[in-house]
Amino acid sequence: MSRRHDFVTECLKQTRGRPFSFKVLGHSVTAFYGEKSRRRVLAEQGMDPNAAQRVLGIIPAFTEPDKEKQAEGEALFEKRLLSLIHRDRLAEAIPSLLEDSWVLCEEWGKKGVFDPFVAMYDVVFQMTARVATCRDLYENRQAVAQLQKNFLSLETNATSFSILFPWFPGPAQIGRLAALITIIRKFRKATSTRRQASDMSGDGIDLLVSQGDDDGSIAGTLMGFMMAGTVNTGVMAAWALLFLGSHPHWKERVVNEVKDLLNKHSDNINTDPLPKRLSSVPLKAWEENLPFMDLVIRETVRLIMCGSAIRRNIGRDIEIEGVTIRTGEFATYSLADAHLNPSIYANPNDFDPERYLPGREEDKKEAFAYIGWGAGRHPCIGMKLAILEMKLVLATVLLGFEWELVDRSGGHLKTIPAPARNNLHTIRPLENSCYMTLKSAKASS
Ligand code: HEM
Repeated sequence: MSRRHDFVTECLKQTRGRPFSFKVLGHSVTAFYGEKSRRRVLAEQGMDPNAAQRVLGIIPAFTEPDKEKQAEGEALFEKRLLSLIHRDRLAEAIPSLLEDSWVLCEEWGKKGVFDPFVAMYDVVFQMTARVATCRDLYENRQAVAQLQKNFLSLETNATSFSILFPWFPGPAQIGRLAALITIIRKFRKATSTRRQASDMSGDGIDLLVSQGDDDGSIAGTLMGFMMAGTVNTGVMAAWALLFLGSHPHWKERVVNEVKDLLNKHSDNINTDPLPKRLSSVPLKAWEENLPFMDLVIRETVRLIMCGSAIRRNIGRDIEIEGVTIRTGEFATYSLADAHLNPSIYANPNDFDPERYLPGREEDKKEAFAYIGWGAGRHPCIGMKLAILEMKLVLATVLLGFEWELVDRSGGHLKTIPAPARNNLHTIRPLENSCYMTLKSAKASS
């Protein structure tokens, strides 16, 4: 475990909110705090997250890439990502996504006591693979499970050491490279198989093939899509369940809201299985008619998305709060500085979804006070897919199952442990001490 969150919080205390600089791999990184600075870090033109990730991220580049080619590649990736999550595709995918969610929740339920973070990652990974890949892959449980393992090994081999010393061929670095090669190989193979098929469908890979990309570039798009699209969504879905399970009043509100939505769009006495009935709710209604669930997701994301946004200045020198960030240097802003700031959010560590309602609107107290989906020049482009997937899996669990938060041995858990904010990878409860049980419930109306 790294102590990144503690380090940033401690430095903030010591510098009383003034920026401070430190070195990583010989590069100068400056951490900024406060409203004015976060605006500049997130919205200034030269501040580039991808250039920063290439040096300090999970998959560092070993050489400086050609700037123009890189920009072209990033623009193309964004275009392809947006085409994969086009509204029409998502609307059409809803029944299958609900089926995925139902089948996997049932499978997890049969396991007895399980880790909701593993289960939700599993569900979200399957749903995201369905949106992005092709039938041969997403309908093959074993192949999806293998691919999931490859992605996990990419994540878990990103240790502090391997990020700080990307050139050192230690076991973590080798594990990461091996996972990367395996994933790219699998996506290339799936793409070339689809390219030779006579029956082009509406599947993600077929769509990318029809847009004229070569196998390598499609593999890259799929890789980026699955990386950006699975970890955070799975973690947020798990935390949303934890918060609902430990706040019965909110659980009841959301359950009633989903039941109302279901009853409005499907026949009340319909005896179809739940995923089929939920499929009758159109995309627009999922997006617009679940205000309590929206508040729960918003609050979950505020509480959990507290890592650091990292930028590399690829433009001219920029001065922020009296500190010059020269071309090639790095700036960082900890989302916790906004999300856990008591002068913005009252009792910031409490789960209190009402804080966004008219009359309070704490997230509007300062510019960019809520940055759970990013802000400025590089906001999240997958937010709609992430929220839809979370809503589908939450509706499945809430209406289709009797569920409980438990400790490792199955004893009822009334309160949930705090988030382990220093985790380098996913933010889970401290000491991994929160588990779940799920039992299929017949009553759903
Ligand atoms: C609950 C789930 C998610 C959360 C909380 C989340 C949050 C964020 C945040 C905070 C950023 C900005 C990072 C920064 O400023 O450095 C971001 C960027 C991004 N997200 Fe998400 N995200 C989620 C799911 C997704 C999904 C499902 C996709 C795609 C399938 C996606 C694709 C991206 C991409 C491509 C960027 C980079 C945008 C750019 O550099 O211009 N995200 N996300």
